[in-house]
Amino acid sequence: MPNSSPHSCIWRSVDRPPAIAGDGVHLWRIDLDASDAVYEGCHALLDDGERARADRFRASRQSQRFAVARGTLRHLLGAYLETEPHQLEFAYAEHGKPFLQHPKTDLHFNVSHSGNAALMAFARGRDLGVDVERTQREVGWERVARRFFAGPELAELMALNPDQRRSGFFRCWTSKEAYMKATGRGITLGLGKFVVRVDRSLPAELLSVVEGSAHHWWLQDVDPGPAMAGALCVSGGAPNIDWLELTVPTLG
Ligand SMILES: CC(C)(COP(=O)(O)OP(=O)(O)OC[C@H]1O[C@@H](n2cnc3c(N)ncnc32)[C@H](O)[C@@H]1OP(=O)(O)O)[C@@H](O)C(=O)NCCC(=O)NCCS
Repeated sequence: MPNSSPHSCIWRSVDRPPAIAGDGVHLWRIDLDASDAVYEGCHALLDDGERARADRFRASRQSQRFAVARGTLRHLLGAYLETEPHQLEFAYAEHGKPFLQHPKTDLHFNVSHSGNAALMAFARGRDLGVDVERTQREVGWERVARRFFAGPELAELMALNPDQRRSGFFRCWTSKEAYMKATGRGITLGLGKFVVRVDRSLPAELLSVVEGSAHHWWLQDVDPGPAMAGALCVSGGAPNIDWLELTVPTLG
């Protein structure tokens, strides 16, 4: 199923989540390098397992980013569900995809982080996957593409002008991750077993999938900011996407 271009991302700053319309998807862009007050506010929302996980990071910056990501996720879910954030209980599906065990809800979510950036997607009754990647980090992109991309993706990548191949690589990578995360199966889906559109001059699109129909899914380029690439994958028809950022003091 085709979709729209990344240029439609216009991020809107709000101090609390608006209601999600029936066909709506909320996509939040979060800066994980938050102030001490925000970090402490987020850390206070974590349960014992999340605190233990934060403590396992060797670098304190990584630990703080994890706490801010989980705390912000709890804050947003709590606001959508009118539940105290620390009362939310997560559970994990077979391949690790988190979902809400308490309260029971049709609100779906998915999270991705890279460095100080996170994307968080929310929708009612739709499966979701998001991915964000920093594009300046050193990736031997041609080697990775030859090893992991499906044959038609590699052919499309190598047919691009050389100066477009790096961005084509990240379009393909983030689209694949977003779809794998939307299904919840992650890497076990088999990277070479489905095909996405690589050429960024064309709309993001799932061209073939492992099971069912590619038309079941909507794929969307996301522009998370300079030197980053992103993608969102959502089940069902064309979503009405709200591109959102939190006014930071809200979390303090
Ligand atoms: C989790 C997974 C799906 C993505 O991992 P990642 O890209 O390293 O990390 P991201 O930041 O995008 O996503 C991590 C978040 O996804 C969520 N997640 C975990 N398992 C998930 C799954 N099976 N499905 C969907 N979401 C999942 C979690 O919220 C997790 O964050 P948290 O644990 O801090 O809450 C990973 O298991 C995976 O399959 N990675 C594939 C990597 C790869 O080879 N990519 C090549 C693309 S060409």
